[in-house]
Amino acid sequence: MEQIFPLSLFSLLLLIHCPLSLSQSPAAPAPAPSGPTNLTAALEKAGQFGIFIRLLQSTKVGDQIETQLNDSNQGLTVFAPTDGSFSGLKSGMLNSFTDEQKVELIQFHVLPEFFSPAQFQTASNPVRTQAGGGEGQFSMNVTATGSQVNITTGETNATVANTVYTDGQLAVYQVDRVLLPLSFFVPPPPPPPPLKAARSPESGDAPPSDAASADSSGADCLLYGQVIRGVTFVVVVMLLGV
Ligand SMILES: *[C@@H]1O[C@H](CO)[C@@H](O)[C@H](O)[C@H]1NC(C)=O
Ligand SMILES: *[C@@H]1O[C@H](CO)[C@@H](O)[C@H](O)[C@H]1NC(C)=O
Ligand SMILES: *[C@@H]1O[C@H](CO)[C@@H](O)[C@H](O)[C@H]1NC(C)=O
Repeated sequence: MEQIFPLSLFSLLLLIHCPLSLSQSPAAPAPAPSGPTNLTAALEKAGQFGIFIRLLQSTKVGDQIETQLNDSNQGLTVFAPTDGSFSGLKSGMLNSFTDEQKVELIQFHVLPEFFSPAQFQTASNPVRTQAGGGEGQFSMNVTATGSQVNITTGETNATVANTVYTDGQLAVYQVDRVLLPLSFFVPPPPPPPPLKAARSPESGDAPPSDAASADSSGADCLLYGQVIRGVTFVVVVMLLGV
């Protein structure tokens, strides 16, 4: 008490004596928002997340997370792999990913919802990630019993090692593996074959001057083409047969 009083008296004196410098200070950096804590700061404090922090920055997903924490009340859950987990990846794998894949990879480690360890027990699988949802796309299954939390992406099986940070809005869990989205490794379904009817270059032969009859002349051309093909077929068969 004896120490606090002179101190506050001192600050009061400062306030009285320095009105000018105070009024000039709006240009100074704004204080950190009192609500959500900076994710990077939490990871830095915990240590051993250097590679993940670097990827959060280079992909700008870290910024997205901060914005989202300020804008939504759903909260977020982040699965943070350690530097050791990254060295567990096949060598060269991370570098083989495109920039877009790196963004997706990091977003894949973020769930757009706050999960406490207990809430993992009732998570409805597959769980959507920030990279997207959908079975086998950018979703994962999270199962938990007691304090054991398992994650499977179809490509990676991982477990939650411990809680790095939680404030009721943002939860950061250390995971023992880099979570690889199944969609990176399973080729997407082939596109539907192009419709034959869609390409009728013959109709392009119709004279542009006579727009009214374009349709019927297009049909004529089609019929004409079929006749030509039929005749050609017969001729070829005859030539081959002889
Ligand atoms: C988590 O995985 C471990 C090892 O694979 C397994 O023994 C355990 O039953 C799993 N627990 C849950 C809740 O899925
Ligand atoms: C995830 O869970 C869903 C629903 O229980 C299941 O159909 C799917 O096969 C699971 N996926 C993986 C990768 O375990
Ligand atoms: C993940 O775990 C499941 C069930 O325990 C197993 O069938 C599968 O082979 C594992 N996948 C990998 C990539 O380890």
